[in-house]
Amino acid sequence: MQFGSDNHTGASSQVLEMMVSANTGYTAGYGNDDWTMQAVVALRKVFECDLEAFFVPTGTASNSLALSCMVQPWETIICHEHAHIYLDESTAPEFFTGGARLKAIAKGVGKISADLLNDYYINSAGVDFPHNSRVGALSITQASELGQVYTPEEIKSLSEIAKEHNINFHMDGARFANAVAHLNCTPAELTWKSGVDVLCLGATKCGALCAEAVIFFNKELSENFIHRRKRTGHLISKGRIFGSQFVGWLKNDHWLDLATHANAHAQKLAADLSSVEEIQLAWPVEANEIFVIISKKLFKVLKEAGGEFYEWYDEALPLGRTLKEDQMLIRLVTSFATEDQHRIDFINVINQFYSVQ
Ligand SMILES: Cc1ncc(COP(=O)(O)O)c(C=O)c1O
Repeated sequence: MQFGSDNHTGASSQVLEMMVSANTGYTAGYGNDDWTMQAVVALRKVFECDLEAFFVPTGTASNSLALSCMVQPWETIICHEHAHIYLDESTAPEFFTGGARLKAIAKGVGKISADLLNDYYINSAGVDFPHNSRVGALSITQASELGQVYTPEEIKSLSEIAKEHNINFHMDGARFANAVAHLNCTPAELTWKSGVDVLCLGATKCGALCAEAVIFFNKELSENFIHRRKRTGHLISKGRIFGSQFVGWLKNDHWLDLATHANAHAQKLAADLSSVEEIQLAWPVEANEIFVIISKKLFKVLKEAGGEFYEWYDEALPLGRTLKEDQMLIRLVTSFATEDQHRIDFINVINQFYSVQ
């Protein structure tokens, strides 16, 4: 009953085997190795363009370093109320950007919409410079922290506004693989073809052990990345560690197979949960995260039975939705390693609980 997070897993065997292959022989250090080069070539093929890519160990480093190349210290980054960069990266984005401000919008909805972004410009964006902070970038998360997937059309409509206001467009792609698998469109359509300047592509949650790529479609923005990465201690000497993981992850669409597996389990689990009258899904299930309203009693029973998942905060509910006294919100996450038995056991505990009520 492992639904805690998609980083509670190890690596897929294909990724691990590639790491083992990369363990032999001598190659240059600091990202000048054969494996790093191969990974960049593989990314160029997957995204069908001449991108620039750099590898780092964590999503926080990836997002924060990327954003530091996209804004000035006196500028603002617009993001979602539940953005990882806003809630879960301490003050790393502020620190790495030299103090840029994060402004969260889109309360109670799963994604930032063009209307909400326009509203921000009409009602809240400052214009009295240098007294106000100018907007420097827009950041969205694909799939979103509430499990919602941005379509290419939605991304395009956001990028049109970003272009109109001359701001850079960042995408946190910690679950990008799950979004591609859900939409069945190309990685290119979901990024640069829709106006994304920089993608932080996470492999860690979907089959790698520890590998994140900062991908610059807008190559001009990458000019100082190598200095920022080194200065913050994120240039690892044995580049083969990240390179080999990405080579193994991308080979023969392995990354999409892993994400498809995770998404399929999320859909099945959501269907099973929806069939229980007393349980409600808080958000449509699109990728591999499931937000569910359950009773506090059931929560206790599931935990006692060994269920791994997190209680989630009420603010993550859709606008206008409230919890009754005896209810709570939980988050379940499926992964490439989820097995049928995890779901079956979970649903059995639930069915048993209601059969004796
Ligand atoms: C949306 C999102 N971005 C980025 C990350 C990666 O963060 P880190 O590797 O720093 O824990 C996560 C991990 O939870 C995430 O959910």
